[in-house]
Amino acid sequence: MIPALMPTYNRADLAFERGEGAWLYATDGRRFLDFGSGISTASLGHGHQQLADAIAEQAHKVMHVSNLYRIPQAERLAQRLVDASFADSVFFCNSGAEANEGMVKMIRRAAYETGHAERYRVITFEGAFHGRTLAMLAATGNEKYLKGFGPVVDGFDQVPFNNLNAVRNAIGPQTAGIVVEALQGEGGIREGSVDFLRGLRAACDEFDLLLGMDEVQCGMGRTGKLFGFEWAGIEPDVAAKVFEPFYRADKSRARQSGGAGLGLAIVAAIVEAHGGSVRLDTQPGAGAAFTVRLPLASATTQPSPTGTAGGLADSRYGR
Ligand SMILES: Cc1ncc(COP(=O)(O)O)c(C=O)c1O
Repeated sequence: MIPALMPTYNRADLAFERGEGAWLYATDGRRFLDFGSGISTASLGHGHQQLADAIAEQAHKVMHVSNLYRIPQAERLAQRLVDASFADSVFFCNSGAEANEGMVKMIRRAAYETGHAERYRVITFEGAFHGRTLAMLAATGNEKYLKGFGPVVDGFDQVPFNNLNAVRNAIGPQTAGIVVEALQGEGGIREGSVDFLRGLRAACDEFDLLLGMDEVQCGMGRTGKLFGFEWAGIEPDVAAKVFEPFYRADKSRARQSGGAGLGLAIVAAIVEAHGGSVRLDTQPGAGAAFTVRLPLASATTQPSPTGTAGGLADSRYGR
């Protein structure tokens, strides 16, 4: 008989009742060092005081206010992210898959708004993981994940990772953009080479495409820079992170919306808690420079110049 909690993941028979920094304590009393950090999610570690306080404080005030009203926390956080990154505007949402969906919508809308409604296709890469919505399963292109969910959403052309010739061959009159991870997480911690990532940027500039970076797994300091793509010295047009696709507005005019009180208080607390460990130096004429120190309490790996991300999933999680 099917369990009440739908068995969509291949869960280990282990439950945790609390965590402290990089440590997790199981219901059976065992203690585990959490190298997974919730599949690259608990970037401040477990039981972070400032984060827990912010959640409790906001939950007592107001948890949800809809998108019909201003959300000061969202405005504050968006401004902070814009000040600290390539982006001009930020769209908040609830998951990595949704962030990537938003990114693909922005890419398509940009083509539409610039008189190219025929351009809707997005190039993605073998070994990618972009999420589990119907469209992001198609973008991910993994047969195993797609099985039984057909028809596959149209509009994604998959080519081998780190192969610029394959990318350039795949660009056609209907291509609107490219979506790529700087470092493939679920695909096995495979780095996009600097030449490859720079080549993608150049191809996008040459063919007037938008470059979207899926930073869901390696973003926010996990590679030792705020974003994985910074190792290649490039900037995308759009980037997706767990809680937001960042959006550079000079190419596209996609409409922005989204946000809720509690979630944004949490995110604001995370960013502010990083305030102690992420230094932002604005340099006149050169944008912002970041000095990132991952919190010691975090279970992610130490920053590495080769861009190795910490806390990555493996097949045990059935992802
Ligand atoms: C690179 C990447 N993109 C997207 C996702 C999907 O994120 P979510 O599970 O929050 O929808 C993941 C999840 O592991 C990921 O690693």
